[in-house]
Amino acid sequence: MTHDAFDTLVSAMDNPLIVVTTAEAGERAGCLVGFHVQSSIDPQRYCLWLSKANHTYRVALRSSHLAIHYLTTDDLPLAELFGTKSGDTVDKFAGLAVEAGPGGAPLLRQCPNWLAVRRITLLDEGGDHVSLTAEPVAAHTGGRFQPLRLSSAAHLEPGHGAQERPDPPTERAAPH
Ligand SMILES: Cc1cc2nc3c(=O)[nH]c(=O)nc-3n(C[C@H](O)[C@H](O)[C@H](O)COP(=O)(O)O)c2cc1C
Repeated sequence: MTHDAFDTLVSAMDNPLIVVTTAEAGERAGCLVGFHVQSSIDPQRYCLWLSKANHTYRVALRSSHLAIHYLTTDDLPLAELFGTKSGDTVDKFAGLAVEAGPGGAPLLRQCPNWLAVRRITLLDEGGDHVSLTAEPVAAHTGGRFQPLRLSSAAHLEPGHGAQERPDPPTERAAPH
């Protein structure tokens, strides 16, 4: 299989972009996500994939709920903020109107189209992203909207590259 064919197929999908937020013990996190989809009708389920490199992933390991904000074509600045900066070094929520949603997940007031979910499973199959399956618990929409798609944000440089895998020390690898 060629990578070219794979890349052509998945880029033709031109995924809509979301901002995923979460919080645990007073620490807020959020990042831009292109890997997400509904995964069951009854019961309703939603899957999204977080990069192991991201601050958001590390907070999501401990949190129970996430908020999914569906971006519109007017939201490129928000995509840039959440997709190119990292919570490791900046507070992306500073200056934004935010309220606590279900389970404390931060809801961005400027995004009327959102889904709050409770995490059910987390699957690490060894790749650079982990899969989260979640149960929708609340939703709000401002009506039909034009999603901001990957093709409109392809120029953004992610705050963390997917290859930035943390290398946790082990007892035996530790220098003596
Ligand atoms: C167009 C685009 C799509 C992205 N898709 C994902 C994604 O599906 N999952 C993910 O975890 N990160 C994704 N990222 C990367 C994060 O949004 C980015 O590295 C962010 O700065 C991480 O912030 P954090 O360290 O505060 O969590 C994407 C970035 C861009 C620019």
